[in-house]
Amino acid sequence: MEFPIVRPRRLRGSAMLRRMVRETDLSVRNLVYPLFATQGENVKIPIPSMPGVFQMSVDEIVKEGGECLKLGIPAVILFGIPAYKDEKGSSAYDPDEAVQRAVAALKKAHPELLVITDVCLCEYTSHGHCGLIVDGDVQNDSTLNLLARTALSHARAGADIVAPSDMMDGRVRAIRETLDEHGFSHIPIMSYAVKYSSAFYGPFRDAAGSAPQFGDRRSYQMDPANIREAYKEIEQDLAEGADMVMVKPALSYLDVIRAVKEYTNVPVAAYNVSGEYSMVKAAAQNGWVDEKKIVLEMLTSMKRAGADIILTYFAKDAAAWLKEEQ
Ligand code: PBG
Repeated sequence: MEFPIVRPRRLRGSAMLRRMVRETDLSVRNLVYPLFATQGENVKIPIPSMPGVFQMSVDEIVKEGGECLKLGIPAVILFGIPAYKDEKGSSAYDPDEAVQRAVAALKKAHPELLVITDVCLCEYTSHGHCGLIVDGDVQNDSTLNLLARTALSHARAGADIVAPSDMMDGRVRAIRETLDEHGFSHIPIMSYAVKYSSAFYGPFRDAAGSAPQFGDRRSYQMDPANIREAYKEIEQDLAEGADMVMVKPALSYLDVIRAVKEYTNVPVAAYNVSGEYSMVKAAAQNGWVDEKKIVLEMLTSMKRAGADIILTYFAKDAAAWLKEEQ
C-alpha cells in the first residue's frame, strides 16, 4: 500500500508545533471597544438585547477607558444617547452633549487612549434617519454640512479619529475640508466606507435608540448582495481623503474584507456588530456554544480575512482571554 508523501497532520502534532506554524495572530492591539455615552452620573443602564453592554454616563465611560488601557486595548469608539432629538439632529453637534463631554473626559483622564467618535445623525434625529428628511426622503447634500459640524465638534472636544457611518455621498470630503479649515488637518478619518444595510444592526438600535421611525436605510446603505460596489465606495472615500476604511458587518462579509484588503493600501477595519455579538451571547447563555472559543475563532477569522482593526463588543473579554492564552 502506497502511503501519502504529503501529510498535513505532521505539522499538527503538538501545541508548540501548531503555534510555530500558525499564520494569523489575533492581538489586543487590533481591538476597539464601543461605548454608549449618556447623561447623568453613576449611570449604567443595561441593554437587554446585548448582555454585558451598557449606556453609561461620562464618569463610567472614563472608568471603562481606564480598564481598556489596562487590558492593552488601544482605542474606544463612542456613540451618543443624547438628551434631546430633533429633525436636524442638533444634539449631534452640541458641544455640551454626552459624546463631546465623554471625549474630553477620556482624553483628560487617559491621554494615551485613542478616542474614536462615530459621526452620524441617526441617534440624534427624531425620525432616526442618518440625514435630513424632505418629503420622506433622506437628503444627501444638505446633510453633509451637519455631518461636518458633528465631526468638528468631536475634534474640538479632543477626538483622535472621526468615523463617519452615515453613508451619504461626499461626506468624507465635507468632513476633511471642515476639519482642515479649523486646524484639524492632523485628525484621521476612519470611513465606514463599505456599510451594508443589515439586519445585524438590530440590537444596536435598541442600545442607541436609533431605529428609523419610518422606512429603512436601503436608500443609503449598501445591498448585502453586492461586492463590486464595495470598490466604488472605497475608491470614492479614498479620493476624498479617508485614511482608513471599514467593512461592516464583519462575520457575513469576510469575503468583502478580503477583497477590500487586496484592493487598498490603507488600514482596513471590520465591525463585529451588535447582532453578531448578541447571537453568540444568547447561544452561550444557553450553553450551546463555548463563548471564549467561538469569539476567538470569529475574531481570528476577521483578522485572517484581512482586518487590521476589529471593532467589537467582545474587546475586553477577548483581551483577557488572549492574555490567558499566552
Ligand atoms: C450609526 C451606526 C449604526 C451602527 C454603527 N453606527 C447603526 C445603523 O447604521 O443602523 C451599528 C453598530 C452595531 O450594530 O453594532 N449609523
